[in-house]
Amino acid sequence: MKVNEPLFDYINPNTDYQILNGDSLKILKGIEDKKFDLIITSPPYNVGKSYETKTSIEKYLESQEGIINELVRTLSDKGNLCWQVGNYVDKGEIFPLDIYYYQIFKKHGLKLRNRIIWHFGHGLHASNRFSGRYETILWFSKTNDYIFNLDDVRVPSKYPGKLHFKGAKKGQPSGNPLGKNPSDIWEIIANDWETSMWNIPNVKSNHPEKTGHPCQFPIELVERCVLALTNENSWVLDPFSGVGSTVIGSIKNNRNAIGIEKEEEYCNIARKRIEELNEGKLKIRPINKPIHIPSEKDKVAQVPIEWTQLELQNVNGSYNGITHKI
Ligand SMILES: C[S@@+](CC[C@H](N)C(=O)[O-])C[C@H]1O[C@@H](n2cnc3c(N)ncnc32)[C@H](O)[C@@H]1O
Repeated sequence: MKVNEPLFDYINPNTDYQILNGDSLKILKGIEDKKFDLIITSPPYNVGKSYETKTSIEKYLESQEGIINELVRTLSDKGNLCWQVGNYVDKGEIFPLDIYYYQIFKKHGLKLRNRIIWHFGHGLHASNRFSGRYETILWFSKTNDYIFNLDDVRVPSKYPGKLHFKGAKKGQPSGNPLGKNPSDIWEIIANDWETSMWNIPNVKSNHPEKTGHPCQFPIELVERCVLALTNENSWVLDPFSGVGSTVIGSIKNNRNAIGIEKEEEYCNIARKRIEELNEGKLKIRPINKPIHIPSEKDKVAQVPIEWTQLELQNVNGSYNGITHKI
């Protein structure tokens, strides 16, 4: 099959980017003060993934503090920092990492602007606690004078036809024509009409962006932060860049970016993805695409025949009497 060459590169030729292979702390030491308008990352969670050695939470946080010193130094005065984390788990007990990290960033004088809940519909099913379906993003600014472009990330309002009902503006539209503030619970724009959650699918095996990385985050999540918290030509850093999702979400929007990653294999995947982005071939879930909701006709949405008219006995011996409709 003949593949037509694109007429232009998808990455603006004035946009600068680097994927640096090595240890974040060492590489950061060589970067000038106040370079970045946005530092966004998902650090290792110390949960024993293939790229990390699990240690005590105290030791883990101590090693992260060294890097955080450098991050604060390299963040510009108008800059923002987004720290995306979930839970550290030890013998079935969960430790929400944002609680621990908040103290560290506060000690460095950063100011929390939002604790964003990133909700996703899929994941492991827990049996000893409720299944985890969200992670958080701590968004800090370095000073009180920080970049925040709300208009660039507004979502359609639910009732755009709403009018002022009294006062000088009586009868005029009360909303913003550009849409409403997306809130601190993130959802896909079109999905906003049905639910009130900003439901960005996390990157699991059936997601169009999935690579060989065990816990990549979605590019659309990066894009929301990049659009709201930087300006065109700003510099963005991801000190734990994995397969390059931050760099891709940044350069796609005319921001310069540096990703630092210690595993060569992930750096190579990141470089390949950037090449594909430039050729218009990278599979990216579009920022506004609604989450797929199965219709009643879809096989997966139907109750298995074995479950119909099923009566479940609970542990007390009484009957729940669950009857599925078919
Ligand atoms: C949670 S993953 C980040 C994934 C990334 N957000 C993506 O979408 O691909 C954390 C990454 O940090 C890397 N890493 C851990 N410690 C590091 C260090 N000291 N320096 C550089 N990279 C490190 C790991 O190899 C891993 O790829």
